[in-house]
Amino acid sequence: MLSTAAALAANAAKVRAQEPQPPTSFGPNDTIQVAVVGAGGRGQSHIDGFAGKPGTVVTHICDCDESHGQKSCESAAEKQGGRKPIWVRDIRKLLEDPSIHAVSIATPNHWHSLGAIWAIQAGKDVYVEKPVSHNVLEGRRVVQAARKHNRMVQTGTQSRSNPGMREAMEFIHSGGIGDVKVSRGLCYKRRDSIGPKGVYEVPKSVDYDLWSGPANILPLTRKRFHYDWHWQWEYGNGDLGNQGIHQMDLCRWALGEDRLSDRVWSFGGRLGYEDAGETANTQIVVHDYGDRKLVFEVRGLETPEFKGAKVGIIIEGTKGYLVMTSYSSGTVFDLEGNAVKQFGGGGDDRHYQNFTDAMRARDHKILNADIEQGHLSSALCHLGNISLRLGNTIAGEEVASAVRDLGGDAVIEDAWNRTAEHLAENKVEGYQIQMGPKLQLDPVSESFVGRDAPNQWLTREYRAPYIIPSENAV
Ligand SMILES: NC(=O)c1ccc[n+]([C@@H]2O[C@H](COP(=O)([O-])OP(=O)(O)OC[C@H]3O[C@@H](n4cnc5c(N)ncnc54)[C@H](O)[C@@H]3O)[C@@H](O)[C@H]2O)c1
Repeated sequence: MLSTAAALAANAAKVRAQEPQPPTSFGPNDTIQVAVVGAGGRGQSHIDGFAGKPGTVVTHICDCDESHGQKSCESAAEKQGGRKPIWVRDIRKLLEDPSIHAVSIATPNHWHSLGAIWAIQAGKDVYVEKPVSHNVLEGRRVVQAARKHNRMVQTGTQSRSNPGMREAMEFIHSGGIGDVKVSRGLCYKRRDSIGPKGVYEVPKSVDYDLWSGPANILPLTRKRFHYDWHWQWEYGNGDLGNQGIHQMDLCRWALGEDRLSDRVWSFGGRLGYEDAGETANTQIVVHDYGDRKLVFEVRGLETPEFKGAKVGIIIEGTKGYLVMTSYSSGTVFDLEGNAVKQFGGGGDDRHYQNFTDAMRARDHKILNADIEQGHLSSALCHLGNISLRLGNTIAGEEVASAVRDLGGDAVIEDAWNRTAEHLAENKVEGYQIQMGPKLQLDPVSESFVGRDAPNQWLTREYRAPYIIPSENAV
């Protein structure tokens, strides 16, 4: 007899081997049945997005932590007039249920692409959190799967549905600040130490094999099981892939670039404390788009705002600049610094609504954050992290000259000088910086070019049976 795990794997393979299915059609009054996968902090917002809302119902909650799953079923029931979702531990079992139309994924990052691809192959439409991938290649695979199976796949970059943000982008694209030269993203978000590296116990309610999924099954070295995986490379992508992906996406949107950059360069480190985290809390990323630049700054230590923003974007043009200080509101300034125009208005519900509108219309062009956009912006974060992780370690005082030697221009030098001041204000002394190489990219093939191109960093070793299918098998 097959073991339960083997039976699930065999069934999942059967589901995945199916030919693309004809689009599901929904009338304007049909109820869309939604399964939320991953019921941690963000999963609650997904439940709020679909439970008790006209036209949608949450019928299932899938979480490999039984405690999160069961509690969320109770809270969802309260939001939808007592209708209690069914808790399912294993996503493969969930996807066998033909009654589910949409799967809304809020697991940790290392599960996003695989969960999305499996759901697409099972004939579901998908809302998947940002970053849509844990590495560049698997993100492209989700796009390929979405197109092949004609599924709607919305990315959880909700700013894209906010009227304030949409108007600001239209203003920029219509030349409101002249020609855009620098698109700057800020992720200035205080992050405390996550505690010392140790050997901790996985909570009893968690199926750790499922939680680990495509990643290796490793001893738990962080104190807090949930959420703090963001700061360990095996599962997370640091703050670039946590908060920063929202602003990275806006920076690329402002540039109007539907492609990866020509070149990426990053440097930084995890400074100010030593803990179980591995990802940078201080980082500069530069993406070259011809004569325009996307510059991204991550600061995890205490910091004042820059030009009025902490978590936001600053888009610099030849006639003025735009500062967006939230997911929906911001101000345009002229070159003298006078405020000349304001934008505002938003709310997460619009983004979920936009997803179900596209489901009903069976048209991915209606999606405000189609998976293609989610993939490109997620990839810009991953590429920055690749450069950083390939970097040589140099002393903090050598960084300014290294930036100049590597051809850094005034914009990059300025970003570093302000970062160095910020570290001094935080009394971080005698520190080392990982100085990444400038990596040349072919935006069409989405790979590095040149001698010793580090293309192995564009993917990962997957742990069977949690393997991203090849392009032919998505
Ligand atoms: N769009 C936004 O504004 C926004 C905000 C917060 C978080 N997020 C994203 O949402 C995701 C989740 O973040 P979080 O803070 O809720 O993390 P979390 O660690 O608190 O919760 C993740 C949940 O997923 C569950 N899980 C893990 N593997 C699973 C699997 N294979 N099947 C089912 N459940 C599984 C975990 O048990 C946990 O309950 C992250 O990727 C994050 O980037 C987006």
